[in-house]
Amino acid sequence: MSKTNIVVMPGDGIGKLVLPEALRVLDAAGFKANYIPADIGWEFWCKEGNPMPQRTLDLLEKHRIGLFGAITSKPKDRAAKELSPELQGKGYTYYSPIVGLRQHFNLDICIRPCRTFKGNPLNFVKRIDNKTIEPDINVVIFRQNTECLYSGVEWTNPPDVVRSALETHPKMAAFKSTPSKDMAISCRIFTRKACQRIVLEAFKYAQKFGYKSVTVCEKPNVIRETSGMMREEALKIARDFPNIQLWETNIDAQMMWLNKNPEDYGVIVSGNMFGDIVSDAFAGLVGGLGFANSANIGETCAIFEPTHGSAPKYENLRPSIVNPIAIVLSACLMLEYLEEIEKTNQIRTAIADVIAEGKVRTYDMLRLVGGPNVIAQGAASTQEMTDAIIAKL
Ligand code: NAI
Ligand code: MG
Repeated sequence: MSKTNIVVMPGDGIGKLVLPEALRVLDAAGFKANYIPADIGWEFWCKEGNPMPQRTLDLLEKHRIGLFGAITSKPKDRAAKELSPELQGKGYTYYSPIVGLRQHFNLDICIRPCRTFKGNPLNFVKRIDNKTIEPDINVVIFRQNTECLYSGVEWTNPPDVVRSALETHPKMAAFKSTPSKDMAISCRIFTRKACQRIVLEAFKYAQKFGYKSVTVCEKPNVIRETSGMMREEALKIARDFPNIQLWETNIDAQMMWLNKNPEDYGVIVSGNMFGDIVSDAFAGLVGGLGFANSANIGETCAIFEPTHGSAPKYENLRPSIVNPIAIVLSACLMLEYLEEIEKTNQIRTAIADVIAEGKVRTYDMLRLVGGPNVIAQGAASTQEMTDAIIAKL
């Protein structure tokens, strides 16, 4: 069997520290691949004026699958100051390369599983009648990844043509006396095709992995057109999956219920903004950034990444202290995408065993404040956590 080619993009900060750990686990699980390193992130912004060089896009275009660490982003003016002197003042503008990758390859399906590992001290607990209950959460969020408020169609001081077009809507009368310079507009754009794709993928996933419900989490009672379109498509698609229940929640109510019955939900599907919110909220119930993993999947390319950023304050600590589980779980999503279900399950079980045993815990799991002292306080290093997972394989 020929080896899969995988483009690996460590990026910045702790991305460089955790990505090799994921490869060690993949290797130990017997997954054979060629890993092709690719440049992305701050270094390439400073040296070349482009954090997402064309050669990296070419590699992804060719191999169509990527594993990504994390990048550092800074506001435009600070970014401009850090450009190397010969590039300064030449019109280079910084933009986040991971957002760029999602748009360039139209990675419109974002999958973010949030699952409880028994024994994780960071698990959400509730108290009922003086008893502590630790619900078993197994939620997979499908977030539309390219549209909604992230489409970038927005203005402060909208041009007259935009203003007059909007004024054809009767509700704009409420803003009649506001001058354009005092008005900011961000467009929430949904397309039917994107709604259909995200809902269909959510149902297919629920079917494949035995979830009993798909919840559309939007707000169609108020945001009638965009949330309404997502709901309308969900109602149609649900008819093809008679064994899976279609539930509907409003994002605000979902946030309120989060602490009440998170264990009742299965697959949740949302537009980009609400998907971002609901996935962070559920991730917080199952361990937070050290565990949060995600897949960005398009029709021709897929990129897998932990949700966390480059955590620059920890990048130079040796031994490294950050939790590698988020990227290892992201690598599991990659294996799942490649239909390597057995290896995926093996790695997830190994992680579950390490956590249940409770001997090896990174600083975040011990609720310590990160820093060089955490190892002396009993925290495992990044490498020790990986070693423990590998030992369980
Ligand atoms: P961050 O996710 O890098 O770190 C926030 C805090 O979370 C850290 O200080 C640390 O306490 C904790 N943390 C993160 N990853 C952890 C891990 N694996 N194990 C244990 N603890 C962990 O977010 P922050 O500090 O807001 O941003 C730092 C840089 O990362 C910024 O430049 C930001 O733009 C960028 N960023 C990049 C993302 C990406 O590459 N997808 C996502 C979020 C932020
Ligand atoms: Mg977020």
